[in-house]
Amino acid sequence: MKLLNNVKSSATGFALVALVSVSATFLESAPAVAKGVVRPQPAVLSASAIAVADKYSADAAGQIFKEGGNAVDAAVAIAFTLAVTYPEAGNIGGGGFMTLYVNGKPYFIDYRERAPLAATRNMYLDDQGNVIKGKSLYGYYAVGVPGTVAGMWEAQHRFGRLKWKQVLAPAIKYATDGFEVDEQLDKRRETASKEFAGKTNFDTYFGNLKQGVNFKQPDLAAVLTRIANNGAKEFYNGKTADLIAASMRGHGLITKRDLQDYRAVWRKPIEADWNGYHVITAPPPSSGGIGLVQLLKMKADLASDFKGVPLNSAQYVHLIAEIEKRVFADRAQYLGDTDFYKVPVEQLIDDPYIAKRAAEVNPTTPSDTKSVQPGLGTSMPEKAETTHFSVVDKWGNAVSNTYTINGYFGSGVVAEGTGIVLNDEMDDFAAKPGVPNMFGVVGSDANSIEPKKRPLSSMSPTILTKDGKVSLVIGTPGGSRIFTSIFQVINNVYDFNMPLPEAVAAMRFHHQLLPPNTIFWEPYKPIDGELAKEIEAKGYVLKGQDFSGDIQAIKINGDTPEPVSDPRGRGISRVIQ
Ligand code: DON
Repeated sequence: MKLLNNVKSSATGFALVALVSVSATFLESAPAVAKGVVRPQPAVLSASAIAVADKYSADAAGQIFKEGGNAVDAAVAIAFTLAVTYPEAGNIGGGGFMTLYVNGKPYFIDYRERAPLAATRNMYLDDQGNVIKGKSLYGYYAVGVPGTVAGMWEAQHRFGRLKWKQVLAPAIKYATDGFEVDEQLDKRRETASKEFAGKTNFDTYFGNLKQGVNFKQPDLAAVLTRIANNGAKEFYNGKTADLIAASMRGHGLITKRDLQDYRAVWRKPIEADWNGYHVITAPPPSSGGIGLVQLLKMKADLASDFKGVPLNSAQYVHLIAEIEKRVFADRAQYLGDTDFYKVPVEQLIDDPYIAKRAAEVNPTTPSDTKSVQPGLGTSMPEKAETTHFSVVDKWGNAVSNTYTINGYFGSGVVAEGTGIVLNDEMDDFAAKPGVPNMFGVVGSDANSIEPKKRPLSSMSPTILTKDGKVSLVIGTPGGSRIFTSIFQVINNVYDFNMPLPEAVAAMRFHHQLLPPNTIFWEPYKPIDGELAKEIEAKGYVLKGQDFSGDIQAIKINGDTPEPVSDPRGRGISRVIQ
């Protein structure tokens, strides 16, 4: 998100499941997979639970559970509700990933945006080959073909118990009757208004999104009602598709054909065994799942170096930064959309490879940034504002969902006559090899722009199971900070035995190879005083950032779910009987 650039100061044995993808066909009237797969089961938990980004989506989930819905029904209702009440990141104009654990089996749906058919590799470069500032961030050119409606349709039709219309109902109610705008949303609107001023039609739709106002969205209510009546094909081939295409004409690249061609994809999640737990997380086009597994494995390999090192001490920050250097070097070189580029997934999370990378860590001083290269060599084939919520139901099913329009309020463009905020996900591509994007991360050919390709993401909706039962559901927004944040919370819980609320609230920091030896800290728990001096004495530069995630997590203790929302955000966690 743009906020991240506004820096203030300046025992492991892993099994990888091969990536197999099945494209979903929401444009047909019958769903790709027969509905009703979820059999009525005896309850295995004392209650259902949610950790979500705001109170309206929490209420929506409560209603869905009351009507007999399961975790997937609740998740879809939450996603549509947040598109109304959390418009800075909740969306139907963006895309995301959903990791599911249903009837004891893992699933993953990729509904990430795709580049339009007319997109070209150099579309963000000027005549001199330089990146045109802002072109991939603001306005019509920044928009990728949205996937959220297709993803929600597929998930609900495959695993939901309720009628599609039922799960849309809460969102339609909030769009029609309005919801009360809170302070945080007002502030984010104010920042976005300044950013988009003169560039987009943002203020026409959201100028009145002010604290205390009962905010109604009639255009969006009409869109959601049509989606409720006609299904996902309304968005991709109906009146809504026509309105989006009309809005783009003469300004941007997305056509009705792009919308008609869009497909959400069922993929095999990344799966790995770690510390007695089974980790189920996001495969490419996310870098986050691979990154998370590499972080967890490398830290386990370095157990003797971490022995006795206090959490968040200077030495701890150093060791984690050393690990992160290796993870981000691999990310920049190898990761992209597997439908377009051969990503060496198995090699990247292979035990001996990770052990070799861990052995490169310098236990005492920061490795020279230039010396940290992608670990598999460069002979690999060269071609080939977000929100999270976690849900468990009393039947033991779980949903971990992260979706995004990238920056707060995405591209700032609202498709005329729809109220839909469109994403700026195109910025997640490498506009030019080696040139950092909004999150400061670089990429290579693996993440170059091609028609229909999905930009590389860091979103990592994750589920940990133990003995086949859900143990932890976790995720967060935060761009490239996503998987380093999840990693830190998992460490706090399992390596430092912290209760979940403390583990989520604890200080977080971030390093991503570039800028060299830079540790980012957060305003919520700043790195200052003695700790700052000690870290700087090791050779690091400290830099503030505005945002370091908004974790929504649920831990299962015995048969009792414990949901926790990050104190950094306006999230709500609830146990629902
Ligand atoms: O897919 C990604 O990694 C980014 N577009 C996510 C953006 C994000 O997390 C913004 N949130 N604060």
